Amino acid sequence: MKKQNWYLLLAFMAVIFMIITAYNSDPKNDRSWAGYKADSKSSSYSPLEEINLSNVSKLQNVWTLQMHDLQEGQEPVTSQCNPIIVDGVMYVNSGKQTVYAIDAATGKEIWSCRTLEQGQPSAASRGVTYWESGDDKRILYSSGNSLMAIDAKTGEIIPSFGTNGRVNLNEGVRDDPEKISVSLSTPGRIFKDLIIIGLRTPDFYGAPPGYIRAYNCRTGKLEWTFHTIPHPGEPGYETWPPDAYKYAGGANCWAGLSIDMDRGMVFLALGSPTYDYYGKDRKGENLFGNCVLALDAATGHYKWHFQTVHHDLWDYDLPAPPNLVTIKKGGKDVDAVAQVTKHGFVFVLDRGTGKPLYPVEERKVPASNMPGEEAWPTQPFPVKPKAFVRQSMTEEDLNHFSDADYKAILEKFRSVRYEGLFTPPDLKGTLSLPATRGGANWGGAAYDPNTSYLYIRGNNLPEIITIVDIDKHFAARDNSIFETGRAIYMKNCSACHGPEKKGVPPTFPSLVNLKEKLGEKEGLEKIRLGGGQMPAYKGVLTAAEEQAIIAFLYDKKGSQITQLAKEKTDSSAPVRYGNITGYRTWSDPSGNPAMKGPWNTLSALNLSTGEYAWQIPVGNDEKLQEKGKPVTGLLARSGPMVTAGGLVFISGAEDKKLWAFDKKTGKMVWETVLPAANNANVCSYSVNGKQYIALSVGGTAKNPSGSIMAYALP
Ligand code: HEC
Repeated sequence: MKKQNWYLLLAFMAVIFMIITAYNSDPKNDRSWAGYKADSKSSSYSPLEEINLSNVSKLQNVWTLQMHDLQEGQEPVTSQCNPIIVDGVMYVNSGKQTVYAIDAATGKEIWSCRTLEQGQPSAASRGVTYWESGDDKRILYSSGNSLMAIDAKTGEIIPSFGTNGRVNLNEGVRDDPEKISVSLSTPGRIFKDLIIIGLRTPDFYGAPPGYIRAYNCRTGKLEWTFHTIPHPGEPGYETWPPDAYKYAGGANCWAGLSIDMDRGMVFLALGSPTYDYYGKDRKGENLFGNCVLALDAATGHYKWHFQTVHHDLWDYDLPAPPNLVTIKKGGKDVDAVAQVTKHGFVFVLDRGTGKPLYPVEERKVPASNMPGEEAWPTQPFPVKPKAFVRQSMTEEDLNHFSDADYKAILEKFRSVRYEGLFTPPDLKGTLSLPATRGGANWGGAAYDPNTSYLYIRGNNLPEIITIVDIDKHFAARDNSIFETGRAIYMKNCSACHGPEKKGVPPTFPSLVNLKEKLGEKEGLEKIRLGGGQMPAYKGVLTAAEEQAIIAFLYDKKGSQITQLAKEKTDSSAPVRYGNITGYRTWSDPSGNPAMKGPWNTLSALNLSTGEYAWQIPVGNDEKLQEKGKPVTGLLARSGPMVTAGGLVFISGAEDKKLWAFDKKTGKMVWETVLPAANNANVCSYSVNGKQYIALSVGGTAKNPSGSIMAYALP
């Protein structure tokens, strides 16, 4: 080549280099938090380090965007949304499922899109999914029973996706779409032009199965379905009664999924089969309930599974997407999947094969005394890492706030069946620890790729499982519609809303004087479609049962007589056992937790050694904290975020707190009080080289819709 040409080539290469660096350093071109929990590996890790140990104390609130889909005076909501940020634009959803695009540097609203159709109540929704192909940029979002596509630039619903911009998720889940109501609580993930999603299904008898599905991001066309309750000839079919695939429900992925883009594999965290506490009609191990399930992302073909609980009887759903991690084993890097569980374990599995990387033992567990029940004789126990929450208690662990309170809980403790982890539900009551709120919950774990540390929040709160024959226990006192409604309410609703309809505010709303809060039509819609932690009863209750329950909730004490009560106690129908005290902390008569704290902790686990570096209590109940003693820990479900700046951020819940901890030691280095309760994971991103921390904050009396708050250095 001539000398001149060499110069030309060099100049040309220099220009290319400049273009590339300019593109890469485009101040707005940060995509380090462009998906739920940061990325497709669900790392909850931010590589940004402008905010670090040396300056975190100076963090301040730099903008707040007030959502505006509710009016002053309406009941405040919280959003579980984890924002995503693509090239300087933040995309979030509100508690009422309006999607917002926000200038991530200033907090200015770019557009908003109401996604709920007339009359549809909202369901818990943890965020949105971004997809692009060239100039076509979309937000895929699920609201009510539909998956929808929104133009990321304009906020307009894209009509060519599905039918008028929506795909009906009730279709294609085995059961009559008119009779079920499924939704999505955790956003789906993108693999090429597919969005892969799980489902939220009810926990009760008659629930639909939680199929895994992939839809085309351009058209909304269903591309593949994986049966989590296998059909004849499919792997796992033999772990159920032969006809179970026709009637069994659940085994759904409500908690989210992760994708290994290089391997083309998707990893899903599956929940329990239904009914959660009684499995006479689902004898067997019940694959793929409670499994980490690996599928081929392009085709949905089975790759491997690892079941964390066989034949679940405790509602030990896998609560968060598996973290895709790389750990050191014998001096080598090994790609793995780390799954945190409600019952307090971390299973560390080889990413390619699903084989445990630390020994897991099948240990004998107590047998069931329930009529017709066959609890699985063994359960998997990891030898390492140890559990991150308490998995057993004795009388010594009971709180003694007053003699009367102590006496009551001691009597209860001695009266129930309790033989440690995996004690099956029993007609005399059972203690469950950890219980339905974890251990871990939906916030999941954060993984630091530089150190292979996993950060995990855990609850230490036992629950009492009270099993009754619900049809007998709650038989109507007479055949009036009102009394029949009361009986149906007691069976289906009292576990959360309480036998006197008083609820457990703010988690489970009171239904006393419901007519003053909610019209009959809206009340019925809520019962049919659910929302938040409220299950959907469409297809579960018959029209006559709905009518009866409305009569009960709206105090319609007419003298009409119903035959329903008689039909329901038909002696040939299988007995339906139900847990009537689920989903709430076991408390003493004064309402204080029965078991000693700390009730919530944050742990740092070195995944390469299987050893914990530290564990601290998180959150505080000031009235129960003893003088001079550490904080008590407080029930919370959101998860941590870890940063390259040496920090772990995590939010509280009812205590309205947001904290930063030193990721090496667990020392608290910053805290702030938010204007309202919050219940969401934190995110971090940069615009124009400046790092921000942001999260969803709940509504206040003045602005019930809630807000997004961002923090940065001055
Ligand atoms: C697993 C717990 C749970 C069960 C079981 C449950 N609910 Fe709910 N319910 C909730 C929660 C949580 C909310 C608040 C939902 C929200 O924020 O959107 C709620 C809200 C409601 C509301 C709206 C209240 C308001 O103030 O707007 C009604 C009405 C209601 N439930 C009725 C029922 C009925 C009737 C049943 C039984 C057929 C039932 N619920 C079963 C948890 C539950």
